[in-house]
Amino acid sequence: MAKKRIFSGIQPTGNIHLGNYLGAVKNWVDSQEEYENIFCVVNSHAITIKQDPKELHQKTYELAAILLACGIDTQKSHLFIQSQIDEHAALAWILDCNIPMGDMSRMTQFKDKSAKNPKNINVGLFNYPALMAADILLYQVDGVPVGEDQKQHLELTRDVAMRFNRDYGECFKIPEPLIPKVGARIMGLDNPESKMSKSSSGANHAIFLLDSPEAIMAKFKKATTDSHTTIVFDPTRAGLYNLLSIYEIFTHKSRESIEQEFAGKGYGQLKSAIAEVVIESLRPIRERYERLMGDEGYIREILAQGAQSVRPIASGTYERAKELVGLV
Ligand code: TYM
Repeated sequence: MAKKRIFSGIQPTGNIHLGNYLGAVKNWVDSQEEYENIFCVVNSHAITIKQDPKELHQKTYELAAILLACGIDTQKSHLFIQSQIDEHAALAWILDCNIPMGDMSRMTQFKDKSAKNPKNINVGLFNYPALMAADILLYQVDGVPVGEDQKQHLELTRDVAMRFNRDYGECFKIPEPLIPKVGARIMGLDNPESKMSKSSSGANHAIFLLDSPEAIMAKFKKATTDSHTTIVFDPTRAGLYNLLSIYEIFTHKSRESIEQEFAGKGYGQLKSAIAEVVIESLRPIRERYERLMGDEGYIREILAQGAQSVRPIASGTYERAKELVGLV
């Protein structure tokens, strides 16, 4: 039986953090055998927020190197840069013309990002979900592995695809969101009420994948918890719950055995234990990344091959969509 196909993307803005890793990238890596995989560095999405062009260029390659260092294996997965396949922007236009303003106006990410960037609320930021829908629909995928925050965008993607198929004729496969049970919403260490994000300025907010062991230990030690004394998985104790979930994912231990392990112990011991597993799990990623960054030509070659291998799928879908709407 043919493998199911998945697509997912990540923006080359800011630094990749533990939320990106546990909510998305680690799952991409772990399920590479199960699926036919297409992964994309979505640099065109990044320019919805003002970027320094040189820095964006550099960050795009760095992020590709991090993904490879995390274990994306190009024998099993396609990895490419969004802007290298023109059909993404072209299909987004056709989709734009088929998405009601009302649907787009409901997107919470637009509301959050425009509140954070009041001086640059541009049309691209508003249309962001149409480009994301194009990314996915071009490749006729079965699933999209993402964190919880992308769920609304996926619903919009499914809606526009279904409407298009109904109004013009069969064109797009309807994708399912693949959201992990644990790790889909990793919270900020400094404020467990808010999602860990690349744009937060708090020094102890996020663990970045390339952080030094010392920085990881220091950040976990300062993580916000509460004044209770028991160490149990209780979702109402957001800071503790977040820390325990991180520990659960990295150690693969059951919740019961984790609770037993820390029975009678204090938050200090818990935080050190978590920091240690995270440090040891991220160490090989950082080391591989440093080796890969020494050979930028190799990364460029991999990305060029990735784009070349998936371009026929994208152009096949785009040509069909064009024809269906009457564009010649
Ligand atoms: P981006 O770059 O913000 O994040 C990449 C992935 O990381 C997940 N994520 C999190 N998961 C758990 N906890 C968190 N705190 C956390 N923060 C981020 C995101 O859900 C995402 O899966 N719009 C997308 C990029 C994109 C895309 C696509 C994704 C563009 N086109 C097509 C899938 C399919 C984004 O901004 O991701």
